[in-house]
Parts: sequence; C-alpha cells; structure tokens
Amino acid sequence: MSKLRLAIQRNGRLSDDTFALLRRAGLEFDSPKGRLIVNCDGLPVDLLLVRDDDIPNCVRSGACDAGIVGPDVVEEDRLQCRGPSHVQRLEALKFGRCRLALAVPEGKAGLFPVDFRATTIATSFPGILRDFLAAQGMERDVTIMSGSVELAPRLGIADAVCDLVSSGATLRANGLKEVATVFESEAVLIGRTELGDVAVTILARLLARIRSVLRARSARYVMMNARRDQLDAICRIAPGVKEPTIIPLASDPDQVAVHVLSSEGGFWETVEQLRAVGATDILVLPVEKYLE
Ligand code: PRP
Ligand code: ZN
Repeated sequence: MSKLRLAIQRNGRLSDDTFALLRRAGLEFDSPKGRLIVNCDGLPVDLLLVRDDDIPNCVRSGACDAGIVGPDVVEEDRLQCRGPSHVQRLEALKFGRCRLALAVPEGKAGLFPVDFRATTIATSFPGILRDFLAAQGMERDVTIMSGSVELAPRLGIADAVCDLVSSGATLRANGLKEVATVFESEAVLIGRTELGDVAVTILARLLARIRSVLRARSARYVMMNARRDQLDAICRIAPGVKEPTIIPLASDPDQVAVHVLSSEGGFWETVEQLRAVGATDILVLPVEKYLE
C-alpha cells in the first residue's frame, strides 16, 4: 500500500469539523458528500467514509490504518472485542465534544440515582453502560440498538436511553431529558499499532501537520511599540511562548518594537495591561500554522 487509509465519519456530528481539520492540514479533496472513498492530493491519503461506530473496527481489523472518532466508540469496541485492540490514541483534536448520557422521558426525569426507576435501557454502548451501572451498584436490563436509540421509550422498547449527546437537539426532539453523564468524549486521531513502513511515515507527517494546526489555533502573534524602560514591565505581562523579539526603531533609539508569540487565553485582559504599562500600536495577528 502506497497510501494511508484514514477512516472518518461519513455523515454526523464529527464530519464537517473533520473535513475542515484535514483541509487545514493540507489535504486537498473534492466534496465527500455521497462518496465512500475519496482520494486526496497534498498527502498520499485515501479517506474512507463510514459510520463513526464502525471506525474502531476498521482500524483494529487492518481495513484502515488510522481514523478520526470519539473515544466513546473506541472504548466500546475495546470492551466488545476483549482481545488485543491494536488501536492507539494519537492526538485529541479539540472538537466533537459530547457525552454519553442516560436520559428518560421528560415527565419521568428526577434526581439520579435516587429517582432512576428505569428497568430497561436502550443503547448502542452496552459495554460502557454495563460498566457504569456496575460501578453505581445498579442492575438494569440493557437493550442493544445500533441506531435511532432515542425512539426506544416511545416504541415501548425501553424506559430510558443511553446515547451520545452533543447539542442536545436529538434528545429534545424526542422528549427526553438527561439525568446522568456516563462518559465524556471529544474527537481523537487513532492509529493501528502495527503498520507498514509507508503508512507509518505518512501517518507521522499527518500527525505533525495536525499538531501544527491545533497549536496555531490558540496562538497569536502580538506586535507593539514601547520605550526601552518599559520593557521589563511588558515582558512580565506578555505571555510569550518564547523570548520576545526586541527591534530598535530607526527614528528613535529609546523606542523599540516588541514581537511575541502568545498561546494563552485572556487576550483582551493582556492587551489592556500592556497598554496600561505604556505599549502602543498593538497589533494581534492570527497564526496560520505553528511548527515548533
Ligand atoms: C449521535 C447520537 C445522536 C446525535 C446526538 O449520532 O446517536 O443521534 O449524535 O447529537 P445532538 O445532541 O447534537 O443532537 P452520531 O453522530 O454518532 O451518528 P450515528 O447515529 O450515525 O452513529
Ligand atoms: Zn455514532
């Protein structure tokens, strides 16, 4: 194989953010809508578009080399397959935050666990749910559904559901209310532990690019002018990743330009403090990519 096969969610919570991240990492591809395999330019990668729940199995079985998915389905797959998983988490991707939650019909919601009278719970995550129930000292029947879990109470199949909640729109649309969080999740890059040399090299390049994109997202390049005698105060405030760069101004030897790469939040507060100690002409620029 001369290409890396990367499994991603075809259509769902993770899809748009996944496409955007891969494009920012330099993968070029046409709209994947309605397609199952997409060849990329920019790196030798083929995208395999599947249901997110199938991604860990694709990677474990060797059908794909890597994938982008929530740890919820990775953990469920690990509990189901019981044997060695051959799947490793490589990087948290800072999108796709969601939680696996227990939910019951609106009218029946009460304080968990005291009011939780459900006897049957429908879920696509029986392994994680059973572990959670055991840790709570609860015994409940678990009904396994591969999709449309939120319909189960209305269909009379179950009293409660345990499913992924992101915006909460699906629960609301089905008259359900969350009563407990079972597992918290965000998208991760996973890879097979045993890969051929070519796939290892491409995956390392993809991972390095993804890391530079993620680092850049929280980074800002800040430029300002100041008097030399204000430098100590400015350097104490400016949250630089590295030492600031100090450049004398041609017209006035007492004035300098200070450039600093910042990776911290609280941006407006910092700028206000910089102004308060005398910095002027403050420019804040977004960082496109950041390779250490
Ligand atoms: C999950 C889950 C809900 C939806 C919840 O589906 O099964 O259907 O997301 O999101 P919301 O709180 O924003 O409404 P997923 O994206 O995993 O797709 P799938 O049903 O094809 O597995
Ligand atoms: Zn899913």
